[in-house]
Amino acid sequence: MNKEYHSELKFSNIDKKYDKQVVFDNFNVTIPLTECTVLLGASGSGKTTLFNLISGIIKPDKGDIDLDGDIISSMNEDQLAEYRYQNIGYVFQNYNLIEYLSVYDNITFFNDDADMFASICSRLGIEKLVDKYPSELSGGEQQRVAIARVFMQRPKLILADEPSGALDNESTQKLMNLFKQLCEEFNMKMLLVTHDESLIKYAQCVCKIVNGEIIFL
Ligand SMILES: Nc1ncnc2c1ncn2[C@@H]1O[C@H](COP(=O)(O)OP(=O)(O)OP(=O)(O)O)[C@@H](O)[C@H]1O
Ligand SMILES: [Mg+2]
Repeated sequence: MNKEYHSELKFSNIDKKYDKQVVFDNFNVTIPLTECTVLLGASGSGKTTLFNLISGIIKPDKGDIDLDGDIISSMNEDQLAEYRYQNIGYVFQNYNLIEYLSVYDNITFFNDDADMFASICSRLGIEKLVDKYPSELSGGEQQRVAIARVFMQRPKLILADEPSGALDNESTQKLMNLFKQLCEEFNMKMLLVTHDESLIKYAQCVCKIVNGEIIFL
């Protein structure tokens, strides 16, 4: 392991295709997990596919994915569920809130610590929304609720797929500062997909998917 970093994600000989569309063909890379690692790439380049592989939502056709010694690609469903709960907090590109649960129940899905809940909701400016349901929220509100849920989980690694896609610039900068504070406070790492180059300043490592490969910038 690279001594400069405490954590890394290693992809070895990964193939992934959907029907006949090849997204990764013998993909090999080690991504150091710094506090904030930014992943760039054109639309359709495979960023969400990569996150779905890391979280075990989809499996590669071939190859291994290793997060600090956990070989994700070889886990069974039970092992995967435990691995995900312990390690991965996924802020989905499309939020994935549970429609029939209130905002409160969505956010406290993994952990209902009252002090932490109050602090996170106030810092994300969603404290007045807790009795609503996801269908009653704006896109940016749903996005912040999805982020609050992941913060409450306190995973080892946050996968944030365009977490500021529905937010204005001021809310985005506030969110990034909150990510930074909480990652430090709870020793979490974040892998952040974005098209917003103004977020690069928050990263210690920036990489980009180009033609099914990762280049480090
Ligand atoms: N479930 C699926 N079935 C078939 N093709 C898929 C599926 N998911 C993704 N793809 C295809 O794989 C490619 C990579 O998709 P992916 O969602 O990983 O891109 P992305 O980099 O996240 O793009 P964006 O920035 O638009 O979110 C795209 O061409 C997409 O059409
Ligand atoms: Mg995507």
